[in-house]
Amino acid sequence: MEHYFSNSFDLLTEAYEASSIKGTRVCIVGDTNTCPLYADAVKSFCEKCFSQVDVFAFPAGEEHKNLMSIEKLYEFLLEHHYDRTDSLLALGGGVVGDMTGFAAATYLRGIKYVQVPTTLLAQVDSSMGGKTGVDFKGYKNMVGAFHMPEFVYTNPAVLSTLSDEQFASGMGEVLKSALLADEDFFGWLLGNMYEIGERDPETVLEMVKTTAGIKEAIVQRDPTEKGERALLNLGHTIGHAIEKYKNFELLHGMCVGLGLIAAASISHGRGLIGTEELYEIRDVCFAFGLPIFADGIDDNEILRLTKSDKKMAGGQIRFILLEEIGKAFIAADVTDEELLAGIRFINGDEIVYEE
Ligand SMILES: NC(=O)c1ccc[n+]([C@@H]2O[C@H](COP(=O)([O-])OP(=O)(O)OC[C@H]3O[C@@H](n4cnc5c(N)ncnc54)[C@H](O)[C@@H]3O)[C@@H](O)[C@H]2O)c1
Repeated sequence: MEHYFSNSFDLLTEAYEASSIKGTRVCIVGDTNTCPLYADAVKSFCEKCFSQVDVFAFPAGEEHKNLMSIEKLYEFLLEHHYDRTDSLLALGGGVVGDMTGFAAATYLRGIKYVQVPTTLLAQVDSSMGGKTGVDFKGYKNMVGAFHMPEFVYTNPAVLSTLSDEQFASGMGEVLKSALLADEDFFGWLLGNMYEIGERDPETVLEMVKTTAGIKEAIVQRDPTEKGERALLNLGHTIGHAIEKYKNFELLHGMCVGLGLIAAASISHGRGLIGTEELYEIRDVCFAFGLPIFADGIDDNEILRLTKSDKKMAGGQIRFILLEEIGKAFIAADVTDEELLAGIRFINGDEIVYEE
């Protein structure tokens, strides 16, 4: 799968021409925030490749990531005569990307689509890997399909309009990738903290490209999550538990950041990473605007939610730990005591370890 990176949409026409998409119609699918901001710019490039370019906007927000929204998109596509050769373009964050991908996977038993991610989280994570879907009856991503986009077009310049909170949430996934796979990149993030905070376009472009590259390499080696892809869950097991505990009021990447600190603390407890590294990881999370304590959580309830996460294998939790900064592994033997110690570390109850 091709992945284009540019601080403009200038290469979009070229990307389509090089792709296998040849239909006459394309529907730009965004939300009520991304369409007013970027649909016109994207449309002007699409018009060079397609005779019919439509725009469809979902109402923004996770609460609309459901089958009712998908139905409205199916209706729109039917009314506008979309056939099997036509395609969709997802212009938005993870919510738009997951829903557009799901509609593409199912409309007429599957049509092509491309991803144009517009949040940091989507640019470094959700737009790649082909996981699509919607929430159902209160369960996140309960209904879905694997459906790969034809290409991903990442324009980090659009991040200039993203809120600080959403940008920080994306940094949770950036830090996760550096911690699990690339020590040099972790060092680079430390060295470029100021530029990233200022959202310097060239620095952000490089950061997004490197992070996306880490995910793509892993997904390519393990597309259906049989082994190595599980490493991408670093920070996610306790992170998801906090997300549920907080009724999804704390952004996903923020919960991942807390999960990263907890996982680092468990790794430290096993003597795998040093005290200095543990605190460095926590300081970096703080510097990028992520919370380092989860206010008011009940440790035992977080433990229960952690153990009910879907990433369990035969009743045993498959937890991702750090062997060192830049190297993660799957541990099937993490005990309740270790999990509780990790949870307490982010509950403000700091444990002082002896070296
Ligand atoms: N498919 C996957 O592999 C995968 C991985 C991780 C997360 N996800 C999913 O991603 C979703 C979260 O994605 P998200 O964090 O991008 O949230 P989101 O899509 O809800 O976007 C966050 C907010 O930012 C707005 N927005 C988007 N781009 C903007 C821009 N450039 N300028 C201003 N505002 C903008 C959106 O309208 C929305 O209000 C969750 O549903 C999660 O399940 C999927």
